[in-house]
Amino acid sequence: MKRLASSDQGMWRRQITFLLASSGSAIGLGNIWKFPYIAGENGGGAFILMYMLCILLVGVPIYMAETVIGHETRRNPVSAMSILAKQANCSQRWRWVGGIACLTGIIVLSYFTVVAGWGLHYLVSAFEGAFQNESSLAMRSTFIDLLSDPVAMLRYQTLFLMAVMLVVAMGVRAGLGVAGHVLVPLMLLALGLLIAYSHSLGDMTAAFDFMFSFNVDALNWNSFLVALGHAFFSLSIGMGAMMAYGAYMPKRTSIPAMVFTVASIDVLFAMFAGLAIFPIVFANGLAAGEGPGLMFISLPVAFGNMLYGNFMGALFFALVVLAALSSAVALLEPAVAWLNERRGLPRPLAVLLLGAFVWLLSLMSMFSFNALNHVKVVSDLTIFEALDVLSANILLPGVGLALAFFIAWRMDLRKFAERPFFGLWIWLLRYVTAPAVLLILLSTLMQHVV
Ligand code: TRP
Repeated sequence: MKRLASSDQGMWRRQITFLLASSGSAIGLGNIWKFPYIAGENGGGAFILMYMLCILLVGVPIYMAETVIGHETRRNPVSAMSILAKQANCSQRWRWVGGIACLTGIIVLSYFTVVAGWGLHYLVSAFEGAFQNESSLAMRSTFIDLLSDPVAMLRYQTLFLMAVMLVVAMGVRAGLGVAGHVLVPLMLLALGLLIAYSHSLGDMTAAFDFMFSFNVDALNWNSFLVALGHAFFSLSIGMGAMMAYGAYMPKRTSIPAMVFTVASIDVLFAMFAGLAIFPIVFANGLAAGEGPGLMFISLPVAFGNMLYGNFMGALFFALVVLAALSSAVALLEPAVAWLNERRGLPRPLAVLLLGAFVWLLSLMSMFSFNALNHVKVVSDLTIFEALDVLSANILLPGVGLALAFFIAWRMDLRKFAERPFFGLWIWLLRYVTAPAVLLILLSTLMQHVV
């Protein structure tokens, strides 16, 4: 298999397209829905600091690894690993790492679209004024009603999945690239408006105190696991997405500069999302440690009791849907590129097949909130929760560890030796990143399997 100068899927002509598309993939439900609530559950400031260290010392080196693998080979994750393994005289089994990465993307997409579907449903409800003067109790039962109604969930999830499929079917330039250029500025605009709103009507001081006060007592081993797992998830690594995007990156691009910029944008977006959400949550006397219900229960109540709440609530959920869309396309892309390059399926057909598969898989998640809610997989998790743990805590770090190991100890790195930050990167991969990921992996396995 020969190495290619450009990807069969097309390439991005400008660096900014890579930057926007990758930022779009990084900024997603993880930043808006998950980060604020896990920061809330783990006590705020000290957790956020630990999270940033995880991003810098573990996330960024693996992000670099994925991007370099894609950029060097210009192929889908499976072929990329196969080419590099051959060069390094390693077993062809390394291509399985690429395959598992693609598969993980598909699994994550199956439940990611469910949550995005809730977001779409809430967007419509906000417009219709459904949050107006609702109590927490009423909003909680609205959410529970939605979860117990597979048909309602399916309607919005299918709509969302179709939008994802459409973008990916349009290809690397007209689909993924254009989506980055359109969606990321829109998200920044929406977030800016929401922060301005929170700033004028919410309790910014309480939010600042909460997010940046140093509560070391709330930290424990589990918060470390949560922070590290989330660093993977939020940067979109471990699923081949950054290998695929690296393959479409223009030739003369500084990979460390790009990766560092995307990571910074990702972290900043999560913090600013917190500064949009917490002030209005606090101003309405609601709790920050609500857990996953923060976005679907507390926040709608808060909006419903505030000036222009319908409109701002709709804007918030529009932001959620846009962010989810720009991430979801990157979850589908690696597997599409793989089917196209290795199995010769035309892109639209690959999208259709994988989309149908994702849709079927997502039924399991949707039914796990109602008809199948008694089905427990391992250690009492529902199917939805088990898919989340399996992907975020086992498959993602597993792929990340394998990639770190491959780059740090197996790959032929001579041609990189002159590049900036090379020594630091390899040192981190060997002595910080790989051991930290190994630790999280073992600990999760002990927690859930043994
Ligand atoms: N980073 C996304 C978020 O924060 C979710 C995500 C995880 C993702 N892995 C991905 C997106 C891979 C695209 C590709 O919500």
